[in-house]
Amino acid sequence: MKFGQFDDVRKEYVINTPQTPYPWINYLGNEQFFGLISNTAGGYTFYRDARLRRLTRYRYNNIPLDTGGRYYYLRDHDTNDFWTPGWMPVKRDLDFYECRHGLGYTSITGERGGISVNQLAFIPLGYNGEVHRLTVKNTSSANKTVSLFSFAEFCLWNAQDDMTNFQRNLSTGEVEVQDSVIYHKTEYRERRNHYAFYSVNRKIDGFDTDRESFVGLYNGLHEPQVVTAGKASNSVASGWSPIGSHEVKLTLAPGEEQSLVFILGYVEVPEEDKWEAPGVINKKPALAMIEQFATDADVDHALEKLAAYWENLLSKYQINSNDDKLNRMVNIWNPYQCMVTFNMSRSASYFESGIGRGMGFRDSNQDLLGFVHQIPERAKERILDIAATQFEDGSAYHQYQPLTKRGNNEVGTGFNDDPLWLILGTSAYIKETGDTSILDEQVPFDSNPNNTATLFEHLNRSFYHVINNLGPHGLPLIGRADWNDCLNLNCFSKEPGESFQTTANIEGRVAESVFIAGLFVFVGPDFAELCRMRGLDAEANEAVSHINNMRATTLEHGFDGDWFLRAYDHYGEKIGSKENEEGQIFIEPQGMCVMAGIGVEEGLADKAMVSVKDRLDTKYGIVLQQPPYSKYYLNLGEISTYPPGYKENAGIFCHNNPWIMIAETVLGHGDRAFEVYSKIAPAYLEDISEVHRMEPYVYSQMIAGKDAVRHGEAKNSWLTGTAAWNYVAITQAILGIQADFNGLKVDPCIPAAWDGFEITRVFRGDTYVIKISNPGHVSKGVKSLTLDGAQVDGNVIPPVGDGAAHEVVVVLG
Ligand code: BGC
Ligand code: NOJ
Repeated sequence: MKFGQFDDVRKEYVINTPQTPYPWINYLGNEQFFGLISNTAGGYTFYRDARLRRLTRYRYNNIPLDTGGRYYYLRDHDTNDFWTPGWMPVKRDLDFYECRHGLGYTSITGERGGISVNQLAFIPLGYNGEVHRLTVKNTSSANKTVSLFSFAEFCLWNAQDDMTNFQRNLSTGEVEVQDSVIYHKTEYRERRNHYAFYSVNRKIDGFDTDRESFVGLYNGLHEPQVVTAGKASNSVASGWSPIGSHEVKLTLAPGEEQSLVFILGYVEVPEEDKWEAPGVINKKPALAMIEQFATDADVDHALEKLAAYWENLLSKYQINSNDDKLNRMVNIWNPYQCMVTFNMSRSASYFESGIGRGMGFRDSNQDLLGFVHQIPERAKERILDIAATQFEDGSAYHQYQPLTKRGNNEVGTGFNDDPLWLILGTSAYIKETGDTSILDEQVPFDSNPNNTATLFEHLNRSFYHVINNLGPHGLPLIGRADWNDCLNLNCFSKEPGESFQTTANIEGRVAESVFIAGLFVFVGPDFAELCRMRGLDAEANEAVSHINNMRATTLEHGFDGDWFLRAYDHYGEKIGSKENEEGQIFIEPQGMCVMAGIGVEEGLADKAMVSVKDRLDTKYGIVLQQPPYSKYYLNLGEISTYPPGYKENAGIFCHNNPWIMIAETVLGHGDRAFEVYSKIAPAYLEDISEVHRMEPYVYSQMIAGKDAVRHGEAKNSWLTGTAAWNYVAITQAILGIQADFNGLKVDPCIPAAWDGFEITRVFRGDTYVIKISNPGHVSKGVKSLTLDGAQVDGNVIPPVGDGAAHEVVVVLG
């Protein structure tokens, strides 16, 4: 069942009912100021850090789930009827409802009783505020007198403290009101030099800033007492819970339409300019911001700029194929999710509370694979930030804090896959840009500016961290965990509530990871190539010999007859082997080892892929392992804490399904690669939204596996490495356009039935229009390639570098 449809021309998802199977959200903001907004106008807004600078309050785990947001109540003074255009929270039936989630904006329209209201929300580029344009139209044949009541509930900045420290916080709240602007200035008197404001561009008929006065102590947001009474109370908050609400009375003739621009903004004031009079905040910066959006034309102009910004980002890779679902995933929604994931990391979504984790070392490196072609400069900055949290021995903090950019001591180090992802991320940046100067940047170890080395040296330490930490079989030691945070082979936790990621990691030098071995062979050649590019041939050769050894070791000790083993545990016993009772086969080493080419010549890679299909595949995607763990295993850790079918215990992890897609393309299996792609790509799941439940325009981290009660149901949408890896799988491995060190490689691996497709790719400043045809109906193999009519040997387009458009004609066969 569908709950809306894609509008590809406007690059929007159009939702036709407020009662989606779960709140379907969107993100506003691109640089410093951000908002989350659901299809019923729920959500919140923050400046830079969702934990430390939250402007509006949002209660996770609420009942109903999605309560609290940017609410605009409409009250009809003739009938006393009141309602909200996004349906929530009043939930009065609407004669018409539509939500359009677009790139960086959301537009919600509701109509009832002869009044139509459109609520448009976005964050203009370079602006620290959310603009809400409300357009109210009288669709009836009689005059209408209505009041519009706005509502935003302020968070006392630190979201964690705001939800816990009530003995203090209920006495600190302060506001000021002047003209049509409400200022939230809690703690401004002491150590803060920032405040929030909420304005509207016309004279108001009243306001409220005290929650209890507006809502009523015993009322909910569905029946605020001011709205039911039809008159603002002009309350001024003093402690308790400050809010912002304006009342604007409108008289509309039949057919008449009026619009109002509200702004919810954030201001920082230099210490010496904080006050305009004792106790009175300096409002100049806020008024200057408000001034920028005085008129509708200002709003339209900012929307055009926002559209142009996205148009430019998305233009870097565009496909034209016969498959609308593929087109909209590749051209619009997957790259959009990649950018959002890059901006948010894992901080704020409807599954991440904004107060939890910092930025992940491995997560950030993988995220940048999905957006490096859109904004390479930001990828560069991210790479250098990440690398600065590495230690001298090549190990790395598992997480770092975005505001301080320092490693997170609470989580610490010891996730032995982490260092390798830095090689992958850096190589992706160099392949995209050709900018090898990044390797010469001086980068600190453990954020210490007095202890630095070149980025290249950091990569060297990453590579040798693996080689210096091999276990009894010559495979890499796993440490706390590898990619699978929940396979904790050295943890042995017995205390409820202990974190499996951070609880004492016994100094096991036995447990080994076949996955890390695969990852080493996968990224190692890039490191060797970088050595060669720097003229370090001896180092390159040495790296290659380590890679060859690892490949051989993996085949010798990491293959179990029909598939790759997962690991050896603390006792040196096999994990992910047919000898195990549960957890006999895992997806991760099958994907990663075959991506690395291990066992391809020997026919073992083929066997592994057949085993994946036979044992792990389901109609909704490939599960992580089988059989699921039915009980807790002290020697395996968190993986065995989840009920069968959920999360890492045999859930469909949409992050590593693309590894199988890519692995299948290594073997030339285009039909199978695309089959796996379309099983989990959200646009293909739109028709089963009642089962999938999450947004049909973005990936979720996990879909419940076949052993779960709710097989096919997704969770944790938006912020997941799934976005980047699926983007890599479809755009690079399946459609086959790959940035490489020496040019743009074209190597599609597609369903044999496809006749062809066309891709426009901006690469190092030039635009390549690549027409691929498949007259012989093969899956893989470039028979000929021409660049502007001239034959090119092989399948790598050498960068032209003239900034112009070039035609590339590729024939498969
Ligand atoms: C989740 C993992 C996550 C880890 C670290 C675990 O509970 O299952 O997916 O990576 O926590 O936050
Ligand atoms: C989510 C984490 O963010 C990621 O780092 C990890 O690889 C996966 N879960 C799998 O455990």
